[in-house]
Amino acid sequence: MIKAIKGTKDILPESIRNWKYFENVITSVFNIYNYQEIRTPIFEETTLFSRGIGEATDIVGKEMYTFEDRSKTSVTLKPEMTASVVRAFIEHSLGKKQSFNKLYYISPMFRQERPQAGRLREFHQFGAEALGSNSPLLDVEMINIAYDILKGMGLKDLTIKINSLGTPVSRKKYIKLLKKYLKDKENLLSAESKNRIKKNILRIFDSKLENDIEVMKNAPILLDHLDNESIEDFEQVKSILKVSQIPFEVDASLVRGLDYYTKLTFEIISGNVGSQSALCGGGRYDLLVEQLGGEPTPATGFAAGMERILIACENEKSFNTLQTAIKIYIVCLDTNLISNAFNFAQSLRKNNISAEIDYLNRSIKAQMRDANKLNTEFVLFFGGEEFKSNSAQLKNMASGKQELISLDNVLNKIK
Ligand code: HAM
Repeated sequence: MIKAIKGTKDILPESIRNWKYFENVITSVFNIYNYQEIRTPIFEETTLFSRGIGEATDIVGKEMYTFEDRSKTSVTLKPEMTASVVRAFIEHSLGKKQSFNKLYYISPMFRQERPQAGRLREFHQFGAEALGSNSPLLDVEMINIAYDILKGMGLKDLTIKINSLGTPVSRKKYIKLLKKYLKDKENLLSAESKNRIKKNILRIFDSKLENDIEVMKNAPILLDHLDNESIEDFEQVKSILKVSQIPFEVDASLVRGLDYYTKLTFEIISGNVGSQSALCGGGRYDLLVEQLGGEPTPATGFAAGMERILIACENEKSFNTLQTAIKIYIVCLDTNLISNAFNFAQSLRKNNISAEIDYLNRSIKAQMRDANKLNTEFVLFFGGEEFKSNSAQLKNMASGKQELISLDNVLNKIK
């Protein structure tokens, strides 16, 4: 039997209701904040991601779905949206048409990670990218939007963590200090962290291994070695968050897994989803547009994992969606009249009434069971003696009341 690829999931009709509800919350919040939707292709030239996200990151190093197409171009299924949005922003000169752009997206992403609860190989993100302003207000706006959407999904157990990664110049100076600190402690680190000293030293802070945590406990922290501008911006972010009464924690070890960040970074963590607890992450990336060939354009954004959020919602029982009810079920009493019943259903559907009939030649009892299962508001018993006088019995399923009604009046009665 052919099965879905490991780490991918079918979203079946029974869960689509929750996805639609979620998508409605997302789009209504983005509308309130005046963001425009952008859609980009599922695959891009591989160099976009290797240059945009960074060669030394886990995503580029070991998680991308990369292949050569028939014309020998190396293409990659998008592992994230920021690089794609920036590519589209540059390609279509969006910055020239409008000096400030606020964009949002909902899209599948692909990363070949080890699948586990809340971690998939095809997963869905919603997110935002705002390009053209270096205001810390906008960083706070990102946190607000993400927080509003998560709250809109009814989630309560949320922690916002923020950090500043400074400018590349201050980061470079700090990395020298960190290397010095780790020089005589290398042997105490795990093999993976040892490897990271040369490739991506900040990510050692991400390690969950006890020995690594012990070593990093006393390491110098980047927050103590920031440039003045990053410090000022960070202070402003914190004070606006306080005024907006958004609870947050400063987490000096929040380094994020992508190379493009400058200054503010943030994550929102759930206490209710197990080990894959980061529901969303983002931050400022003031140099990426230039690095990918555009005009210097400060930018900030975030993305959130939809499957993880839905797991958190399920665990917190945070919202309920009702199955959309069918308006009317036409129970056909007489097999000879099935095409008349079908035509009658069609005439109601053409008037925007959701109508269902039986396609399986079921008994009247079985049709009634089906009508109940579908949460039907009305049942029309089509056929019998009543049909001769162009009428039928109409049953209101909530009250149980039944009445004889002319077929010409059904539409008006149930509308
Ligand atoms: P990221 O932290 O790599 O950031 O991903 C954002 C969110 O996507 C994570 O917090 C997580 O909820 C979800 N996610 C990531 N990988 C998986 C996976 N394998 N399975 C399920 N969910 C996953 C970015 O992607 C950046 N582009 C965010 C950003 C936008 N920064 C600035 N602008």
